[in-house]
Amino acid sequence: MRVAEAIAMRLSGAHIVLGVTGSIATYKAVGLASALVQAGATVDVIMTEAATRMVQPLSFQAITHRPVHVDMFAPWAETEIGHVTLGQQADLLLVAPATANTIAKLALGLADNLLTTTALAARCPLVVAPAMETAMWHHQATQGHVATLMRRGVTIIEPEAGHLASGARGVGRLADEGRILATLARLLAPQDLAGRHIVVTAGGTREAIDPVRFVSNASSGRMGYALAEAAVQRGARVTLISSVTGLPTPLGVDLVPVESAREMHDAVLQAIRAADALLMAAAVADYRPADVASQKRKKGNEAWTLRLVPNPDILEAVKGEKPSGLMVIGWAAETHDIIENARSKLERKDLDIIVANPVPQTFGSDRVQATLLFRDGTIVPLEPLSKVALANRLLDLVVEHLRRPRRGAENQSQT
Ligand SMILES: Cc1cc2nc3c(=O)[nH]c(=O)nc-3n(C[C@H](O)[C@H](O)[C@H](O)COP(=O)(O)O)c2cc1C
Repeated sequence: MRVAEAIAMRLSGAHIVLGVTGSIATYKAVGLASALVQAGATVDVIMTEAATRMVQPLSFQAITHRPVHVDMFAPWAETEIGHVTLGQQADLLLVAPATANTIAKLALGLADNLLTTTALAARCPLVVAPAMETAMWHHQATQGHVATLMRRGVTIIEPEAGHLASGARGVGRLADEGRILATLARLLAPQDLAGRHIVVTAGGTREAIDPVRFVSNASSGRMGYALAEAAVQRGARVTLISSVTGLPTPLGVDLVPVESAREMHDAVLQAIRAADALLMAAAVADYRPADVASQKRKKGNEAWTLRLVPNPDILEAVKGEKPSGLMVIGWAAETHDIIENARSKLERKDLDIIVANPVPQTFGSDRVQATLLFRDGTIVPLEPLSKVALANRLLDLVVEHLRRPRRGAENQSQT
Protein backbone atom coordinates (compact mmCIF):
# COMPACT_ATOMS: atom_id res chain seq x y z
CA MET A 1 0.00 0.00 0.00
CA ARG A 2 1.33 3.45 -0.93
CA VAL A 3 1.31 5.62 2.18
CA ALA A 4 -0.50 8.92 1.60
CA GLU A 5 1.77 11.98 1.79
CA ALA A 6 -0.14 13.57 4.68
CA ILE A 7 0.52 10.48 6.77
CA ALA A 8 4.07 9.82 5.60
CA MET A 9 4.99 13.37 6.57
CA ARG A 10 4.22 12.56 10.22
CA LEU A 11 5.74 9.08 10.25
CA SER A 12 8.97 10.02 8.53
CA GLY A 13 11.81 10.04 11.05
CA ALA A 14 9.66 8.58 13.85
CA HIS A 15 10.93 5.68 15.93
CA ILE A 16 8.12 3.18 16.29
CA VAL A 17 8.13 -0.01 18.30
CA LEU A 18 5.69 -2.47 16.73
CA GLY A 19 4.50 -5.15 19.14
CA VAL A 20 3.13 -8.18 17.33
CA THR A 21 1.07 -10.84 19.11
CA GLY A 22 -0.23 -14.29 18.19
CA SER A 23 -3.39 -13.69 16.20
CA ILE A 24 -4.66 -15.01 12.92
CA ALA A 25 -4.08 -11.42 11.77
CA THR A 26 -0.36 -11.54 12.64
CA TYR A 27 0.54 -11.69 8.93
CA LYS A 28 -1.09 -8.26 8.46
CA ALA A 29 1.55 -6.77 10.74
CA VAL A 30 4.12 -7.54 8.04
CA GLY A 31 2.28 -5.19 5.64
CA LEU A 32 1.97 -2.62 8.40
CA ALA A 33 5.71 -2.77 9.16
CA SER A 34 6.41 -2.36 5.46
CA ALA A 35 4.13 0.69 5.20
CA LEU A 36 5.80 2.30 8.22
CA VAL A 37 9.26 1.72 6.78
CA GLN A 38 8.17 3.08 3.37
CA ALA A 39 6.89 6.19 5.14
CA GLY A 40 10.37 6.74 6.58
CA ALA A 41 9.89 5.45 10.13
CA THR A 42 12.45 3.40 12.04
CA VAL A 43 10.63 0.27 13.14
CA ASP A 44 11.71 -2.10 15.92
CA VAL A 45 9.56 -5.20 16.10
CA ILE A 46 8.90 -7.11 19.31
CA MET A 47 7.06 -10.40 18.81
CA THR A 48 5.45 -12.56 21.44
CA GLU A 49 6.25 -16.28 21.41
CA ALA A 50 2.75 -16.97 20.02
CA ALA A 51 3.30 -14.46 17.19
CA THR A 52 6.41 -16.35 16.07
CA ARG A 53 4.22 -19.43 15.67
CA MET A 54 2.17 -17.52 13.08
CA VAL A 55 4.89 -15.62 11.17
CA GLN A 56 8.65 -16.04 11.10
CA PRO A 57 10.62 -13.17 12.72
CA LEU A 58 12.77 -13.19 9.58
CA SER A 59 9.89 -11.61 7.60
CA PHE A 60 9.92 -8.56 9.88
CA GLN A 61 13.70 -8.44 9.96
CA ALA A 62 13.88 -8.40 6.17
CA ILE A 63 11.36 -5.57 5.97
CA THR A 64 12.61 -3.40 8.81
CA HIS A 65 16.33 -4.12 8.26
CA ARG A 66 16.63 -4.40 12.03
CA PRO A 67 16.83 -7.32 14.45
CA VAL A 68 13.50 -8.62 15.69
CA HIS A 69 13.15 -9.01 19.45
CA VAL A 70 11.41 -11.97 21.03
CA ASP A 71 13.32 -13.40 23.96
CA MET A 72 13.62 -11.17 27.00
CA PHE A 73 16.22 -13.48 28.54
CA ALA A 74 18.55 -13.79 25.56
CA PRO A 75 21.93 -12.62 26.94
CA TRP A 76 22.82 -10.73 23.72
CA ALA A 77 19.46 -9.00 23.79
CA GLU A 78 20.09 -7.69 27.29
CA THR A 79 23.52 -6.32 26.38
CA GLU A 80 22.40 -4.74 23.11
CA ILE A 81 18.96 -3.33 23.89
CA GLY A 82 18.14 -4.09 27.51
CA HIS A 83 14.69 -5.33 28.47
CA VAL A 84 13.22 -1.85 28.84
CA THR A 85 15.25 0.47 26.62
CA LEU A 86 13.36 -0.14 23.37
CA GLY A 87 10.19 1.46 24.66
CA GLN A 88 12.04 4.28 26.35
CA GLN A 89 13.67 5.35 23.08
CA ALA A 90 10.51 5.12 20.98
CA ASP A 91 8.19 7.90 19.87
CA LEU A 92 5.29 5.49 19.91
CA LEU A 93 4.50 1.88 20.83
CA LEU A 94 1.93 0.19 18.61
CA VAL A 95 0.59 -3.27 19.42
CA ALA A 96 -1.00 -4.65 16.25
CA PRO A 97 -2.58 -7.09 16.17
CA ALA A 98 -3.27 -7.23 19.91
CA THR A 99 -4.67 -10.51 21.23
CA ALA A 100 -7.20 -10.71 24.07
CA ASN A 101 -4.39 -12.25 26.11
CA THR A 102 -1.95 -9.37 25.61
CA ILE A 103 -4.69 -6.76 26.13
CA ALA A 104 -5.44 -8.40 29.50
CA LYS A 105 -1.76 -8.36 30.45
CA LEU A 106 -1.40 -4.69 29.47
CA ALA A 107 -4.44 -3.75 31.53
CA LEU A 108 -3.19 -5.65 34.56
CA GLY A 109 0.36 -4.40 34.22
CA LEU A 110 1.86 -7.86 33.81
CA ALA A 111 5.38 -8.04 32.49
CA ASP A 112 6.03 -11.65 31.59
CA ASN A 113 7.51 -11.19 28.11
CA LEU A 114 9.54 -8.57 26.25
CA LEU A 115 6.47 -6.83 24.78
CA THR A 116 4.53 -6.42 28.02
CA THR A 117 7.69 -5.43 29.93
CA THR A 118 8.51 -2.84 27.27
CA ALA A 119 4.95 -1.47 27.43
CA LEU A 120 5.16 -1.12 31.19
CA ALA A 121 8.47 0.73 31.01
CA ALA A 122 7.61 2.93 28.01
CA ARG A 123 6.76 6.61 28.44
CA CYS A 124 5.63 7.18 24.85
CA PRO A 125 2.01 6.94 23.64
CA LEU A 126 0.67 3.37 23.51
CA VAL A 127 -1.66 2.38 20.68
CA VAL A 128 -3.47 -0.95 20.69
CA ALA A 129 -5.22 -2.45 17.66
CA PRO A 130 -7.12 -5.56 18.81
CA ALA A 131 -7.96 -8.54 16.59
CA MET A 132 -9.95 -11.55 17.75
CA GLU A 133 -13.15 -13.54 17.32
CA THR A 134 -16.33 -11.59 18.07
CA ALA A 135 -17.14 -13.51 21.26
CA MET A 136 -13.66 -12.81 22.66
CA TRP A 137 -14.00 -9.10 21.81
CA HIS A 138 -17.44 -8.79 23.39
CA HIS A 139 -16.47 -10.78 26.49
CA GLN A 140 -16.83 -8.72 29.65
CA ALA A 141 -13.24 -9.47 30.59
CA THR A 142 -11.87 -8.05 27.32
CA GLN A 143 -14.22 -5.07 27.37
CA GLY A 144 -13.22 -4.35 30.97
CA HIS A 145 -9.52 -4.46 30.09
CA VAL A 146 -10.04 -2.21 27.06
CA ALA A 147 -11.93 0.28 29.24
CA THR A 148 -9.08 0.24 31.77
CA LEU A 149 -6.53 0.95 29.03
CA MET A 150 -8.63 3.79 27.61
CA ARG A 151 -8.98 5.36 31.03
CA ARG A 152 -5.19 5.32 31.22
CA GLY A 153 -4.91 7.25 27.97
CA VAL A 154 -4.11 4.30 25.70
CA THR A 155 -5.43 4.76 22.16
CA ILE A 156 -7.54 1.79 21.10
CA ILE A 157 -8.11 1.35 17.38
CA GLU A 158 -11.36 -0.56 17.48
CA PRO A 159 -11.57 -3.74 15.43
CA GLU A 160 -13.82 -3.77 12.37
CA ALA A 161 -16.80 -5.89 11.40
CA GLY A 162 -16.45 -8.39 8.58
CA HIS A 163 -15.35 -11.91 7.71
CA LEU A 164 -13.45 -13.64 10.53
CA ALA A 165 -11.03 -16.57 10.46
CA SER A 166 -13.67 -18.91 11.91
CA GLY A 167 -15.80 -18.27 8.83
CA ALA A 168 -18.30 -16.25 10.85
CA ARG A 169 -19.02 -12.57 10.28
CA GLY A 170 -18.79 -10.10 13.13
CA VAL A 171 -16.66 -7.52 14.91
CA GLY A 172 -13.05 -8.52 15.50
CA ARG A 173 -11.04 -7.93 12.32
CA LEU A 174 -7.87 -5.92 12.77
CA ALA A 175 -8.55 -2.29 11.80
CA ASP A 176 -7.75 -1.36 8.23
CA GLU A 177 -4.09 -0.40 7.66
CA GLY A 178 -5.08 3.11 6.53
CA ARG A 179 -6.94 3.70 9.80
CA ILE A 180 -3.99 2.52 11.86
CA LEU A 181 -1.54 4.73 9.96
CA ALA A 182 -3.85 7.78 10.19
CA THR A 183 -4.15 7.28 13.95
CA LEU A 184 -0.36 7.12 14.35
CA ALA A 185 0.03 10.23 12.19
CA ARG A 186 -2.39 12.12 14.45
CA LEU A 187 -0.57 11.05 17.60
CA LEU A 188 2.80 12.08 16.16
CA ALA A 189 1.63 15.49 14.88
CA PRO A 190 2.00 18.61 17.03
CA GLN A 191 -1.34 19.23 18.73
CA ASP A 192 -1.14 22.97 18.17
CA LEU A 193 -4.75 23.23 16.97
CA ALA A 194 -6.25 21.30 19.89
CA GLY A 195 -9.46 22.91 21.08
CA ARG A 196 -9.85 24.88 17.82
CA HIS A 197 -12.66 24.55 15.30
CA ILE A 198 -11.57 24.91 11.70
CA VAL A 199 -14.02 25.14 8.80
CA VAL A 200 -12.71 24.17 5.38
CA THR A 201 -14.50 24.25 2.02
CA ALA A 202 -13.47 22.06 -0.90
CA GLY A 203 -14.27 21.36 -4.52
CA GLY A 204 -15.95 23.08 -7.40
CA THR A 205 -19.66 23.57 -6.76
CA ARG A 206 -22.13 21.99 -9.17
CA GLU A 207 -24.95 24.12 -10.54
CA ALA A 208 -27.80 22.05 -11.91
CA ILE A 209 -29.12 22.54 -15.45
CA ASP A 210 -31.52 19.61 -15.32
CA PRO A 211 -31.64 16.37 -13.25
CA VAL A 212 -28.54 14.94 -14.99
CA ARG A 213 -26.51 17.94 -16.20
CA PHE A 214 -24.66 20.64 -14.30
CA VAL A 215 -22.22 23.53 -14.73
CA SER A 216 -19.01 23.17 -12.70
CA ASN A 217 -15.26 23.82 -12.87
CA ALA A 218 -12.01 21.87 -12.83
CA SER A 219 -11.24 22.13 -9.08
CA SER A 220 -10.30 18.68 -7.72
CA GLY A 221 -10.92 19.55 -4.07
CA ARG A 222 -7.51 18.17 -3.04
CA MET A 223 -6.36 21.43 -1.44
CA GLY A 224 -9.38 21.47 0.88
CA TYR A 225 -9.00 17.79 1.73
CA ALA A 226 -5.28 18.26 2.49
CA LEU A 227 -6.18 21.15 4.81
CA ALA A 228 -8.89 19.18 6.57
CA GLU A 229 -6.63 16.17 7.10
CA ALA A 230 -3.69 18.23 8.33
CA ALA A 231 -5.91 20.23 10.71
CA VAL A 232 -7.47 17.11 12.22
CA GLN A 233 -3.99 15.57 12.64
CA ARG A 234 -2.99 18.71 14.54
CA GLY A 235 -5.86 18.28 16.97
CA ALA A 236 -8.53 20.58 15.53
CA ARG A 237 -12.22 19.84 15.22
CA VAL A 238 -12.73 20.12 11.50
CA THR A 239 -15.88 20.75 9.49
CA LEU A 240 -15.29 20.05 5.81
CA ILE A 241 -17.96 21.52 3.56
CA SER A 242 -17.41 19.76 0.29
CA SER A 243 -18.91 19.30 -3.15
CA VAL A 244 -16.35 16.61 -4.01
CA THR A 245 -17.57 13.07 -4.62
CA GLY A 246 -14.41 11.11 -5.47
CA LEU A 247 -12.12 11.68 -2.45
CA PRO A 248 -12.19 9.70 0.82
CA THR A 249 -13.15 11.78 3.85
CA PRO A 250 -10.11 12.06 6.13
CA LEU A 251 -10.54 10.17 9.40
CA GLY A 252 -12.01 12.30 12.17
CA VAL A 253 -13.32 15.07 9.90
CA ASP A 254 -17.02 16.12 10.04
CA LEU A 255 -18.15 16.16 6.43
CA VAL A 256 -20.99 18.40 5.28
CA PRO A 257 -21.74 17.35 1.70
CA VAL A 258 -23.11 20.08 -0.56
CA GLU A 259 -23.59 20.50 -4.30
CA SER A 260 -24.39 24.07 -5.24
CA ALA A 261 -22.92 27.43 -4.26
CA ARG A 262 -26.14 28.28 -2.47
CA GLU A 263 -25.93 25.10 -0.35
CA MET A 264 -22.28 25.85 0.41
CA HIS A 265 -23.21 29.44 1.34
CA ASP A 266 -25.77 28.24 3.91
CA ALA A 267 -23.48 25.54 5.31
CA VAL A 268 -20.57 27.99 5.74
CA LEU A 269 -22.68 30.61 7.51
CA GLN A 270 -23.98 27.93 9.85
CA ALA A 271 -20.53 26.41 10.55
CA ILE A 272 -18.62 29.63 11.24
CA ARG A 273 -20.82 30.59 14.18
CA ALA A 274 -18.56 28.66 16.54
CA ALA A 275 -15.37 28.49 14.47
CA ASP A 276 -11.87 29.89 14.93
CA ALA A 277 -10.86 29.89 11.27
CA LEU A 278 -12.47 29.55 7.85
CA LEU A 279 -10.35 28.33 4.95
CA MET A 280 -12.27 28.81 1.71
CA ALA A 281 -10.39 26.50 -0.65
CA ALA A 282 -13.51 25.65 -2.69
CA ALA A 283 -13.90 26.97 -6.22
CA VAL A 284 -17.41 28.33 -5.87
CA ALA A 285 -19.33 28.88 -9.10
CA ASP A 286 -19.92 32.59 -9.66
CA TYR A 287 -22.98 31.86 -11.80
CA ARG A 288 -25.73 29.26 -11.97
CA PRO A 289 -28.36 28.48 -14.61
CA ALA A 290 -31.32 30.81 -14.18
CA ASP A 291 -33.80 27.96 -14.59
CA VAL A 292 -33.37 24.31 -13.61
CA ALA A 293 -35.44 21.97 -15.78
CA SER A 294 -37.33 19.35 -13.81
CA GLN A 295 -36.93 16.82 -16.65
CA LYS A 296 -33.91 15.92 -18.73
CA ARG A 297 -33.77 18.14 -21.83
CA LYS A 298 -33.93 16.00 -24.97
CA LYS A 299 -31.29 16.27 -27.64
CA GLY A 300 -32.22 18.48 -30.58
CA ASN A 301 -30.61 20.12 -33.58
CA GLU A 302 -31.19 23.72 -32.58
CA ALA A 303 -28.66 25.75 -30.52
CA TRP A 304 -29.27 25.92 -26.79
CA THR A 305 -28.64 29.15 -24.92
CA LEU A 306 -28.18 28.85 -21.19
CA ARG A 307 -28.97 31.96 -19.19
CA LEU A 308 -26.82 32.30 -16.04
CA VAL A 309 -27.49 34.41 -12.97
CA PRO A 310 -24.98 35.37 -10.25
CA ASN A 311 -24.63 33.18 -7.18
CA PRO A 312 -24.46 34.71 -3.69
CA ASP A 313 -20.87 35.59 -2.79
CA ILE A 314 -19.95 33.45 0.22
CA LEU A 315 -17.00 35.52 1.45
CA GLU A 316 -19.07 38.70 1.07
CA ALA A 317 -21.76 37.11 3.28
CA VAL A 318 -19.13 35.93 5.80
CA LYS A 319 -17.83 39.50 6.01
CA GLY A 320 -21.27 40.67 7.09
CA GLU A 321 -21.84 37.93 9.68
CA LYS A 322 -18.29 37.26 10.86
CA PRO A 323 -18.07 36.33 14.54
CA SER A 324 -15.34 38.31 16.28
CA GLY A 325 -11.92 36.71 16.08
CA LEU A 326 -12.71 34.46 13.10
CA MET A 327 -9.63 34.16 10.88
CA VAL A 328 -10.52 33.97 7.18
CA ILE A 329 -8.25 32.70 4.43
CA GLY A 330 -9.42 32.93 0.83
CA TRP A 331 -8.06 31.69 -2.49
CA ALA A 332 -7.61 33.53 -5.74
CA ALA A 333 -7.18 31.19 -8.68
CA GLU A 334 -6.31 33.48 -11.56
CA THR A 335 -5.21 33.16 -15.17
CA HIS A 336 -3.73 36.70 -15.36
CA ASP A 337 -2.78 39.69 -13.18
CA ILE A 338 -2.63 37.21 -10.32
CA ILE A 339 -1.25 39.46 -7.58
CA GLU A 340 -3.36 42.53 -8.47
CA ASN A 341 -6.57 40.48 -8.60
CA ALA A 342 -5.73 38.70 -5.36
CA ARG A 343 -4.91 41.98 -3.57
CA SER A 344 -8.21 43.51 -4.61
CA LYS A 345 -10.15 40.38 -3.52
CA LEU A 346 -8.38 40.38 -0.12
CA GLU A 347 -9.39 44.00 0.48
CA ARG A 348 -12.96 43.71 -0.83
CA LYS A 349 -13.66 40.61 1.24
CA ASP A 350 -11.79 41.65 4.37
CA LEU A 351 -9.58 38.54 4.44
CA ASP A 352 -6.63 37.90 6.73
CA ILE A 353 -4.69 36.05 4.04
CA ILE A 354 -5.30 35.25 0.40
CA VAL A 355 -3.59 32.37 -1.40
CA ALA A 356 -2.98 33.46 -4.98
CA ASN A 357 -2.23 30.77 -7.49
CA PRO A 358 -2.15 30.43 -11.24
CA VAL A 359 -4.75 28.30 -12.99
CA PRO A 360 -5.13 25.99 -14.82
CA GLN A 361 -1.75 24.69 -13.51
CA THR A 362 -3.08 24.30 -9.94
CA PHE A 363 -6.35 22.48 -10.67
CA GLY A 364 -5.93 18.72 -10.34
CA SER A 365 -2.19 19.01 -9.77
CA ASP A 366 -0.38 17.83 -6.66
CA ARG A 367 1.93 20.84 -6.57
CA VAL A 368 1.10 24.50 -6.14
CA GLN A 369 3.12 27.61 -6.87
CA ALA A 370 1.31 29.95 -4.50
CA THR A 371 1.90 33.50 -3.31
CA LEU A 372 0.52 34.56 0.05
CA LEU A 373 -0.84 38.08 0.48
CA PHE A 374 -1.46 39.32 4.00
CA ARG A 375 -3.85 41.95 5.31
CA ASP A 376 -0.92 44.22 6.28
CA GLY A 377 0.33 44.30 2.68
CA THR A 378 3.08 41.69 3.03
CA ILE A 379 3.51 39.47 -0.01
CA VAL A 380 5.28 36.10 0.37
CA PRO A 381 5.94 34.05 -2.77
CA LEU A 382 6.30 30.38 -1.85
CA GLU A 383 8.44 27.75 -3.53
CA PRO A 384 6.47 25.03 -5.40
CA LEU A 385 4.87 22.91 -2.69
CA SER A 386 2.69 19.85 -2.53
CA LYS A 387 -0.86 20.57 -1.39
CA VAL A 388 -0.14 18.72 1.88
CA ALA A 389 2.94 20.88 2.54
CA LEU A 390 1.03 24.07 1.64
CA ALA A 391 -1.81 22.99 3.94
CA ASN A 392 0.60 22.70 6.85
CA ARG A 393 2.24 26.05 6.06
CA LEU A 394 -1.18 27.72 6.12
CA LEU A 395 -2.09 25.98 9.36
CA ASP A 396 1.17 27.25 10.90
CA LEU A 397 -0.13 30.74 10.09
CA VAL A 398 -3.53 29.92 11.58
CA VAL A 399 -1.83 28.75 14.80
CA GLU A 400 0.27 31.93 14.90
CA HIS A 401 -2.77 34.14 14.26
CA LEU A 402 -4.91 32.43 16.90
CA ARG A 403 -2.14 32.72 19.50
CA ARG A 404 -2.04 36.50 19.14
CA PRO A 405 -4.19 38.31 21.70
CA ARG A 406 -7.33 39.62 20.07
CA ARG A 407 -7.56 43.39 19.82
CA GLY A 408 -10.94 43.58 21.59
CA ALA A 409 -9.82 41.22 24.34
CA GLU A 410 -6.63 43.24 24.89
CA ASN A 411 -8.57 46.47 25.38
CA GLN A 412 -10.98 44.79 27.76
CA SER A 413 -8.21 43.41 29.96
CA GLN A 414 -6.63 46.89 30.20
CA THR A 415 -9.79 48.55 31.41
C1 LIG B 1 -4.62 -20.19 14.71
C2 LIG B 1 -4.82 -19.33 15.91
C3 LIG B 1 -5.33 -18.06 15.75
C4 LIG B 1 -5.53 -17.23 16.86
N1 LIG B 1 -6.04 -16.00 16.66
C5 LIG B 1 -6.25 -15.18 17.72
C6 LIG B 1 -6.75 -13.89 17.54
O1 LIG B 1 -7.01 -13.44 16.41
N2 LIG B 1 -6.94 -13.12 18.62
C7 LIG B 1 -6.67 -13.57 19.89
O2 LIG B 1 -6.90 -12.81 20.82
N3 LIG B 1 -6.16 -14.79 20.08
C8 LIG B 1 -5.93 -15.61 19.04
N4 LIG B 1 -5.43 -16.87 19.23
C9 LIG B 1 -5.07 -17.28 20.58
C10 LIG B 1 -3.74 -16.68 21.01
O3 LIG B 1 -2.72 -17.06 20.09
C11 LIG B 1 -3.40 -17.12 22.40
O4 LIG B 1 -4.29 -16.54 23.32
C12 LIG B 1 -1.98 -16.78 22.80
O5 LIG B 1 -1.76 -17.16 24.14
C13 LIG B 1 -1.71 -15.30 22.64
O6 LIG B 1 -0.41 -15.00 23.11
P1 LIG B 1 0.19 -13.55 23.00
O7 LIG B 1 -0.85 -12.61 23.49
O8 LIG B 1 1.38 -13.59 23.91
O9 LIG B 1 0.60 -13.36 21.59
C14 LIG B 1 -5.20 -17.71 18.15
C15 LIG B 1 -4.68 -18.98 18.29
C16 LIG B 1 -4.48 -19.77 17.19
C17 LIG B 1 -3.93 -21.14 17.39
